[in-house]
Amino acid sequence: MRQRQWNGWAILVGLALCTAFKFGPARAELPAAPDPQVVAKGKALTEAGDCASCHTADPRKPFAGGKRIETPFGGIYSANLTPDRDTGIGRWNDQQFLRAMRYGEAPDRSLYYPAFPYPHFTKLVRDDVFAIHAYLGTLTPVSNTPPPPALRWPLNYRVLMRLWNYAFFRPGILEPNQNKSAEWNRGGYLVEGLAHCGACHTPKNFLGAERSKRRFAGSVVDGWFAPRLDEAARGGLKSWSADDIAEYLLSGRNGHSHAGGPMAEVVLNSTSHMSEADVHAMAVYLKDLAAGPAEPAVAAPSPEQMTNGEKLYKGSCVACHELDGSGAPRIYPPLPGNANLQSANPASAIRIVLDGAETITTPRAPNTGSMPPYTKWPDQDVADVVTYIRNAWGNAAPAVTADEVAKLRK
Ligand code: HEC
Ligand code: HEC
Ligand code: HEC
Repeated sequence: MRQRQWNGWAILVGLALCTAFKFGPARAELPAAPDPQVVAKGKALTEAGDCASCHTADPRKPFAGGKRIETPFGGIYSANLTPDRDTGIGRWNDQQFLRAMRYGEAPDRSLYYPAFPYPHFTKLVRDDVFAIHAYLGTLTPVSNTPPPPALRWPLNYRVLMRLWNYAFFRPGILEPNQNKSAEWNRGGYLVEGLAHCGACHTPKNFLGAERSKRRFAGSVVDGWFAPRLDEAARGGLKSWSADDIAEYLLSGRNGHSHAGGPMAEVVLNSTSHMSEADVHAMAVYLKDLAAGPAEPAVAAPSPEQMTNGEKLYKGSCVACHELDGSGAPRIYPPLPGNANLQSANPASAIRIVLDGAETITTPRAPNTGSMPPYTKWPDQDVADVVTYIRNAWGNAAPAVTADEVAKLRK
């Protein structure tokens, strides 16, 4: 009797051990087959979040990280988001991925730098975060360990991010505004959260945090100026309709302007892949932003600058942009009334005259065009022609100095 009892126990314990150590973990290790619908949704969200722009350094190794992101405090390298188990995020579960996106916190509890836009991604709902994770899990694993951050003192100490988060970071999803339409709320979710438009268009404080009181007031990015996106008359989007904004985001151009530099990348990798409904929702949200303070009154540039600028413009630019600046909408962008051109900060206009430009090709606007670089012109000539186009045909914006041009040469 006793013997039989012991046998019974042995069998039970044996079964329990088998379940715990063999079948248990073995079953947990089997990845649940991803639901194709969730993966498709995750792919679309990954595009809307423009993850590839930062996380792909080598186009042959998508999402393998290692791309250097420049910040005012030095460079920082993006992480490997492929499901590689040792160098990527292949061992992460949904909760760890959620903590990274919502709190900027790694599985080992260390904190990320905000070059990873978690202050925006915190606004995402859980299902969207999980869908992104599911999609990333279907990528080809790539073994790649990004270099450590190359940041200057004191930000080279990751622990300081605790203070930074305490001072500047408010985690949590966006509460819908019941007084606004569903389209407006969808646009706000994308603009403020996933698409993190403010990461470039909002000015930052001395520690690199976005200045919440100056949202979308325009900011410098990589030698370009990301213009203000509010309803201001000159440098803002007052003269653009919601359809104009949507066309620009979907195709990289519209009857007012073309996307260049970092914005061209945003359009190529992100907004041109988004649905028309989502892009239109973002446009509706932006059109509802109140106008911030008007651009400061502008002193007229010196007659010498305007005369020399006009001479240079007539000599080199009229072939495409026409004498009256009207150009040919969607081929040669018009210059009169041009918002970006009249920004207080002239960086984008100087950049394009120095470097020239290739119009990007998107499925909705496949034809391309180009503008030659004027690198060889002396700083003063570049300053004069940019001053001229910023102040001809009713435009008004501060004069540009040779110094400003010199600083933007690469
Ligand atoms: C503007 C550039 C940028 C964009 C856009 C961006 N990231 Fe990152 N991401 C980074 C950088 C830089 C790091 C490394 C941060 C650090 O080391 O503190 C990072 C880190 C991460 C990490 C931590 C990974 C690890 O191994 O620790 C995750 C997860 C992540 N990003 C997911 C995403 C997702 C998902 C998107 C798109 C929705 C995205 N990122 C978009 C720059 C970016
Ligand atoms: C990586 C930085 C970056 C991000 C992110 C970004 N932008 Fe931009 N944006 C720029 C720059 C730089 C320009 C100026 C481009 C030029 O000079 O051709 C610009 C230009 C624009 C313009 C044209 C404004 C004008 O007056 O000509 C619009 C509209 C715009 N962005 C909307 C958005 C929206 C909406 C988002 C989010 C979906 C976004 N941007 C995200 C950098 C960025
Ligand atoms: C061969 C034709 C050509 C010539 C010559 C030319 N441009 Fe352009 N310009 C273009 C094209 C094409 C674009 C659009 C580039 C793009 O899509 O990013 C452009 C864009 C611009 C823009 C940006 C406008 C916007 O809103 O996107 C400015 C400013 C500009 N040109 C000024 C000049 C000046 C100043 C000169 C003379 C020094 C000049 N261009 C000469 C073809 C030309």
